[in-house]
Amino acid sequence: MGIAPDIAEDWHAALAALAWQVEAGVDEIILDSPLNRYELAVEPRKPSVSNASVAAAPVSVPSVSDPVALARGVAERATTLAELRAAISAFDLCELKKGARNTVFADGNPNASVLILGEAPGAEEDREGRPFVGRAGQLLDRMFAAIGLSRQSPDAETALYITNVMPWRPPGNRDPEPAEIAMMLPFVERHIALVDPQVIVVVGNTPLFALTGAKGILRARGNWTQALGKPLLPMTHPAYLLRNLSAKREAWADLLSLQARLR
Ligand code: URA
Repeated sequence: MGIAPDIAEDWHAALAALAWQVEAGVDEIILDSPLNRYELAVEPRKPSVSNASVAAAPVSVPSVSDPVALARGVAERATTLAELRAAISAFDLCELKKGARNTVFADGNPNASVLILGEAPGAEEDREGRPFVGRAGQLLDRMFAAIGLSRQSPDAETALYITNVMPWRPPGNRDPEPAEIAMMLPFVERHIALVDPQVIVVVGNTPLFALTGAKGILRARGNWTQALGKPLLPMTHPAYLLRNLSAKREAWADLLSLQARLR
């Protein structure tokens, strides 16, 4: 049985409109007028620490009024990357999680000498559940491949491990807020301690601020510093390099500096 021509026409028109929006870069549905979800009255939520591997009874349970302390307690009980992934996936206190399709944990080789810390997932990463898979991620892969490093490498010396400060995509790709960064920082610190890389590379302002408290990646880039007891190299974010081709020259200098350090 066929469908009535006017319905079929509507259907095709709707599909064409949707395809046009996807083509134009629309990646979320918004309402006609803004809705401030932070103002909606909600029951205070109980912390979700349901995961069996991380739910061992704590000696003292920090209240939800102190989400950072709670996050620290949960993060510190994770003794493996699998436990940490489960703990983050079960952590319900960050508002960003509500709008995200996936928890984006990490990609690459956990034995890698180099850990790259990014900002937060974008639309593609949110869809796929893996960090740096969109255009910026493809550039990141090409940049590090130029000095012989890759997330696919089985060899620790030439491998990358990639994660983000925020495991959930901020709406509209806005910058994560300081309170959101502070809440997820204990997980980032635990993540880095468990991977125990030789060096950390932060790409962009958010991970620079999260690990060092410094602001201004354009000033900081290329200047080695220390964080969490490890050498840390700040670099510009590949999304910035896509928009500012002339900054690629400095990024190349930073990659060569990393290569020299690893030797
Ligand atoms: N930008 C980031 O900082 N991280 C990603 O995973 C993707 C884009």
